[in-house]
Amino acid sequence: MLALTSPEPFTDLGAEEIEALAERHGTPLFVYDDAYFRASVSAFLKTWQSAFAHPKAYLSYKTNYMPALCRSAHALGMGADVVSGFEMEHALRLCAARDIVFNGPLKRAGELERAARDGITINIDLAEELETLEALRSSGRITTARLGLRVNPGLPVFAARDRSFVQAHAAKQRSAKFGWPLDDGLAGHMAERISASGFSFETVHAHLNSQITDATLFLAALDPVLGFVAGLRASGTQIRELNVGGGFGVPGMQRSKHGWWSALKATMGERLEDTPDETFDMAAFTRGLARRLREHGLDDLCIGCEPGRYLMSAGMVLVARVAGLKVLPEKQWVVIDAGLNILPTAAFGERRRLRFFRAGEELPVRDDDPDCTIGGPLCFEGDIVMDHARVPASLAAGDLVVLSDAGAYTVSRSTNFNQLRAAVAMRDGRDGTLVWRRETYDDVFCFSD
Ligand SMILES: Cc1ncc(COP(=O)(O)O)c(C=O)c1O
Repeated sequence: MLALTSPEPFTDLGAEEIEALAERHGTPLFVYDDAYFRASVSAFLKTWQSAFAHPKAYLSYKTNYMPALCRSAHALGMGADVVSGFEMEHALRLCAARDIVFNGPLKRAGELERAARDGITINIDLAEELETLEALRSSGRITTARLGLRVNPGLPVFAARDRSFVQAHAAKQRSAKFGWPLDDGLAGHMAERISASGFSFETVHAHLNSQITDATLFLAALDPVLGFVAGLRASGTQIRELNVGGGFGVPGMQRSKHGWWSALKATMGERLEDTPDETFDMAAFTRGLARRLREHGLDDLCIGCEPGRYLMSAGMVLVARVAGLKVLPEKQWVVIDAGLNILPTAAFGERRRLRFFRAGEELPVRDDDPDCTIGGPLCFEGDIVMDHARVPASLAAGDLVVLSDAGAYTVSRSTNFNQLRAAVAMRDGRDGTLVWRRETYDDVFCFSD
């Protein structure tokens, strides 16, 4: 099994280094471990490459497009998966065009033209994208394009004890905004249109969801996609690549899998069970996929993937400072200087590992320490970083909190709602090298007169 999380990142991050980082760069501060990230990428690529005859991996830019991190991934042979024209421009500065895949729900005419001219693979998600490419060709602006089709098998990829969660999730999967459904002929129709367009139809693409921890469900959801590719090939369409997207889950962060049934129980005053720790078994997944490819006669295909969270999540932590505590009769708040502005996916009820520091010492957490809600700096009630967090009884304003798994959907999803965006320092064993500077008042207001 791939030892991606071994050794665990940041366990050697001691109080002295934390204090030095916070002192030099201020808080909130993301700390990036490039050596760990590169080791994760190498281990992942080894597994992917040993499973498939023609492997390909694209780094999901939306998950974290920090140049320092992207450069490390590209140096190890990864391409780039971009989901907007803006990300495509960024990737073109860091990666060879032929190694870029253009996904996403909106592709403007100018962006499609650029992608087609540069030889970037365009995964069609709207019929209008194909029409725009045809119009560009008719007007002589492009001559060719490398195309793929994003499909949606519409199957659930999450299991949970709360069946109301699974039901809602399954309904969402069936009617997702992305991809063309396989089971009612819509994907087949779009494939025919792409084939008839005369552009090069090379890829079938499916990205199923994020933080998927069940490799068996992931494989089961891919089965109809394999059948679809086999059918296209049998009818003469020379699909070259199957891209299974990203979505591989990480163990350092759990996401709540509660539906309306749990919400009802919580309203009645019941404490909800924690979501169990789960780890995505990458080795079992690649073995299973390789077997299914053989069964479908597709083992000569290039097998692409677009991991984001799986490679990036654990490679960054967030260092925040305690602003104060508020002890209410029914709740104890700890307010810190980092919230949903820079950790937006915490709103999904994510649980991270926490460590606490004061004056060069780590504060231990005991079982009988208080159960608190950690709130952020934003001026709305929902700015909750973590509920039911056990924090040291002595915690006080000025102490530092380190939150694990802050590398995915943080820097790239940060906003300046109420606060300026945070800096990122790369670990160097001392007080860190700045790789993403903190936003300033002038950065935000340079757009106005
Ligand atoms: C098309 C596509 N590929 C890859 C990813 C990366 O997903 P993850 O970070 O869960 O691996 C995403 C994110 O949702 C996506 O939309």
